[in-house]
Amino acid sequence: MANVTVIGSQWGDEGKGKIVDWLASRADAVVRFQGGHNAGHTLVVGNQTYKLSLLPSGIVTGTLSIIGNGVVLDPWALRDEITKLRGQGVEINPDNFAIADNCALILPFHRDLDALRETAAGAGKIGTTGRGIGPAYEDKVGRRAIRVCDLAHLDHLEPQIDRLTAHHDALRAGFGEPPIDRERLLTDLAEIADYVLDYAQPVWKRLKKVRKAGARILFEGAQGVLLDIDHGTYPFVTSSNTVSGTAAAGSGLGPSAVGFVLGIAKAYTTRVGSGPFPTELDDETGQQLGERGHEFGTVTGRKRRCGWFDAVLVRQSCAVSGVTGIALTKLDVLDGFEKVRICTGYRLRGKILDYFPSHAADQAAVEPIYEEMDGWSESTAGARSYADLPAQAIKYIQRVQELIETPIALVSTSPEREDTILIRDPFSD
Ligand code: GDP
Ligand code: IMO
Ligand code: MG
Repeated sequence: MANVTVIGSQWGDEGKGKIVDWLASRADAVVRFQGGHNAGHTLVVGNQTYKLSLLPSGIVTGTLSIIGNGVVLDPWALRDEITKLRGQGVEINPDNFAIADNCALILPFHRDLDALRETAAGAGKIGTTGRGIGPAYEDKVGRRAIRVCDLAHLDHLEPQIDRLTAHHDALRAGFGEPPIDRERLLTDLAEIADYVLDYAQPVWKRLKKVRKAGARILFEGAQGVLLDIDHGTYPFVTSSNTVSGTAAAGSGLGPSAVGFVLGIAKAYTTRVGSGPFPTELDDETGQQLGERGHEFGTVTGRKRRCGWFDAVLVRQSCAVSGVTGIALTKLDVLDGFEKVRICTGYRLRGKILDYFPSHAADQAAVEPIYEEMDGWSESTAGARSYADLPAQAIKYIQRVQELIETPIALVSTSPEREDTILIRDPFSD
């Protein structure tokens, strides 16, 4: 199993970026395969903090970093992010960075539509990141997207723009917005085209070569399984499949390339945006988790909702995504709690459930059943070996492992890259 696929097993923000950055030095390529710049991955290396939304987290270690075809790409957000990272001393050039030429683009009217719909939906809003992700994926499956390769053929774009405007102008009119300004769109695309094309290529071909040479590929998921368009808390989800299988389709490799599936799980639970969250705590404990865990979104700065670890959800995520091992992050945030709780099942209208039901009303109505354990007063912050952990923290990890029916391969004890405990190396067979 030479390759590793990292995915979030909750509602995103589990610490995927930190773990990918830590593993990246042992990988030959890091590949993003879904999502877009709705992701926010924070990496801490010494006294530097890097915030990535679109670029694969491997870029910071200089590892070959690839944006696969499954990603939706906002070219202007890409330019801003590259400029910002170069300002922090990160090298980004066509040798270490490539973009799939068949990626669908996020365009300015996608972002507008995202905002218009959210405002119009009132209490029914999804709470999106406002980056135009949903509308861009809709255009992709609606066969009217403009793709990276189109940037090299702007003279041939008229029929595609006809298809786009036929769809969007009607929608925009409904919101009282003027039609898409075709001239402006073409001028904007012409201005950014060469910037993107410098990195564009059929990345499946590059990855085929990398694989043939026996290199190790690290796939970097964005969001989390509970935000998956099929398996998540629909409709309060993102517009892509976030499960591990997407790594293959979203980069141009077969399913066997996925390798070790490393699910990232926070030692508690958080969520940004609307939607059901059975273990959410509206009390002081929830407040404490948020403060200790610095739970503010990287992309939108929104306060994350917080609650106890939900073993039912993570067990389900592990099952639907074929997780081989878990990286349990932010264990240190639980330091000092007198008691800690884990959700082990749900009560729904008098019945006990050992899974999360599909219907939104049921998802909103389930009541968590908790198991309570003694906490630990010692600090786990910065621990780098299992032996450094207090006995009660080890008990907690073991209980989580039992309940999610999946082994824990890594434990993370601070935002810093090296503060990571390795139990089972995902890159070894
Ligand atoms: P991602 O979207 O899954 O990459 O996660 P984010 O970067 O959005 O959110 C995770 C936050 O927790 C970031 O600010 C990380 O620096 C931080 N973090 C990651 N692992 C740990 C950990 O083990 N302990 C603590 N205290 N913070 C962590
Ligand atoms: P990372 O990769 C947490 C959430 C939004 C919203 C829903 C739909 O940092 O874990 P979208 O803009 O995708 O249409 O929003 O999904 N969401 C995330 N929540 N972490 C993320 O990414 C997220 N990306 C999207 O808050 O509820
Ligand atoms: Mg994040």
